[in-house]
Amino acid sequence: MLSTSSCYYDNAEQLYGSGAACDSVATWSIDIQPLIQSQCLGCHQGAGASGGLDLSAHTGVQNSVLNGSMLDRINRSAGDPLAMPPGGPISECSKAKVRVWKRAGALPN
Ligand code: HEC
Repeated sequence: MLSTSSCYYDNAEQLYGSGAACDSVATWSIDIQPLIQSQCLGCHQGAGASGGLDLSAHTGVQNSVLNGSMLDRINRSAGDPLAMPPGGPISECSKAKVRVWKRAGALPN
């Protein structure tokens, strides 16, 4: 398993969240929804959602996580034209949260 040492380099994203270790527990309401809201909804919302991907509700996020496309995009390195978000990667802690949440079924918890 990967370590979580990179969590030490986190920025403001860590100001919210459960405070639990990045790779131990993640919930929709505490971890995932705030992350999506602050990092993704500027482009992925409503009728004109980028790439036709609307992440404004749990079901849209769940689909994207379970089909693998979200992790594929957020794990790409900066400079990759397919990396998400385009402005620069989210923290390693946030990536770990998405993985943990996926593993537990990406529930609306
Ligand atoms: C500045 C605008 C912008 C932001 C912010 C942004 N995206 Fe995107 N995203 C796009 C555009 C434009 C596309 C379509 C082009 C492409 O596929 O790369 C896209 C495509 C995608 C796709 C592929 C489409 C699909 O159907 O699978 C995924 C997954 C994705 N984004 C996830 C995210 C996630 C997760 C975040 C937040 C962490 C995010 N994006 C933030 C603009 C953005």
